[in-house]
Formats: sequence, C-alpha cells, structure tokens
Amino acid sequence: MRFHLELNPVEDAGINSQQISEEELHNCAQLLADQQLPAGWQVVASSGFAHVAHNSELQVFYKEFLPRSPVEKIKALIKGSRATRARKHSEALLKAGFNAPQNLAWGQLPGAREYLFTRAVAGAGVSTWIKSKLPRQEAVELQERRKFLRELGVFIGRLHGTGFIHGDLRTSNILAHRGIEHFEFSLIDNERNVQYRPPPGKLMLKNLMQLNMHTPAELGRSDRLRFFHSWHSQIRELSPLEAKLIAIESYQWAMRRLHAKGKL
Ligand SMILES: Nc1ncnc2c1ncn2[C@@H]1O[C@H](COP(=O)(O)OP(=O)(O)O)[C@@H](O)[C@H]1O
Ligand SMILES: [Mg+2]
Repeated sequence: MRFHLELNPVEDAGINSQQISEEELHNCAQLLADQQLPAGWQVVASSGFAHVAHNSELQVFYKEFLPRSPVEKIKALIKGSRATRARKHSEALLKAGFNAPQNLAWGQLPGAREYLFTRAVAGAGVSTWIKSKLPRQEAVELQERRKFLRELGVFIGRLHGTGFIHGDLRTSNILAHRGIEHFEFSLIDNERNVQYRPPPGKLMLKNLMQLNMHTPAELGRSDRLRFFHSWHSQIRELSPLEAKLIAIESYQWAMRRLHAKGKL
C-alpha cells in the first residue's frame, strides 16, 4: 500500500493528537480498506462508489473513493483524483466562509482507490430535519420549521451568490445544527462542486431540483416558497422573473423525477 507523503498535519486540523496520531489514522485506513473494522469504527451507508466509516469517539469520518469508470483515470490527470477534488473543494468552501469538513489525512490504496479522513461536522441531514425533526404537521414546531427553511434558503442563496454550485445537492448532503440563535449548515460530499461567476442558471436549477426531491406531504408549497424567497434574496444577478422561472422549473423537474421513481 502506498501512502501519500504530503500528509496533512493532524494537529493543524484541530484534532487532539493524543487521541489519535496521523500514523494511527493511516493504519486504520489499511484495515478499513481491507474490509476490517478497527475498534471504535462503524460502517456508514453510502453510495456505490464509496465506502464510508465513522468513529464517533474521535469524531472522524473515513471515506474511500472507488473508481467510477475507466474514464476516471483520464479525468484524474486533468482535474485531480476524486479524493483530491473532494479535499480541495471543501477547503475552498471553508475559505469562503461556508462550513465543510476539515481534511485530516489522506492516501492512496491499491486498485486506483484513495481515502480521505475528515473531521465530523455537526448536525443531522436536512432531509432528516424536513421529515422527522421538524415534521410538517407539528403545529408546535411551525415557527421553528419556518425559520429553518428561511435560513436554509439564505445559506444556499449565499452559496450560489458566491458562485459555488454543489455537485450533488441532495438534502442528505447538507447537515444542519441548531445553534443558539440560528441554524448552522455544512456541506459534505463536495467532490463534484464547481465555481463560476456569475453562477449559471442551469446549474442552480439542478441544485434546486435536488433540494425539491421531497414529496408534497414532506415539503408543502408554502415551505418551498419560503425557501425560494430567502434563496433569491441573496442572488443579485437574478431578476424576479428569472428566479420565479427557476423555482417553478426546479419544482416541476423534481416532481417528474419523483413520479418516474414511483414516489408520487
Ligand atoms: N465529515 C462528515 N461529517 C459528518 N457526516 C459525514 C461526514 N462525512 C460523511 N458523513 C456521513 O456519511 C454519509 C456518506 O458520506 P458522503 O460523503 O455523503 O458519501 P457518498 O458519496 O456515498 O454520498 C453522509 O451522508 C453523512 O451522513
Ligand atoms: Mg452523500
């Protein structure tokens, strides 16, 4: 197994080095890559092109990037490998003031695989907040749900307004934590993010379509409108008419997809 030599100093990333050293992280990677679970690690559900594990005591995630296709190798030469892109894109978000996982250590594995350890970011997926933490029918939580959707809209609007487009903006890739005054959002799974100024309407549309992938029972019309108003308030480039068109089209696109998946 070959390790990346230009390793990220673990202490700089804020992890307590008495808890785990960088070397120990790389040793864990060897076991995890070999389908073994070192003490304290649990497997986390992930897409087919990744293996993810979590150590709740250390608050660290392990993600192994599996090659998606033979084209991946060529793409890696031009754009950097999947793990490199994930690392760089999270760094770009952090630098611009958006919460994203801090990179702790990374390396290469046999079979064109790579791994990346990140610090766990706080919170639960936006999907979980929408469906169960702040459910639609709970009158008691109504104000809180409204606040949540408004603040989520501002967060995504600020992201787009800064020119960032997330590569896979499903609601499970945004984590939310209830701070004292506001919700705090973090973006994970940043491998396929891009940055353009001004942000192309087509790419914002795709991001918003993914956010709309909830049934009307989970996310009502006024919920969606509340989100959109806050989102638009952050993007100067878009006229009210353009914003409205994006809102309608992203909703209809999501409904067509939900229908095709048999979820409507
Ligand atoms: N740094 C992190 N902080 C918190 N949760 C994480 C972190 N990295 C991964 N996760 C959890 O692991 C899951 C899978 O990771 P993700 O990077 O989204 O993989 P995939 O590409 O398979 O979707 C996420 O949905 C999230 O629950
Ligand atoms: Mg994901």
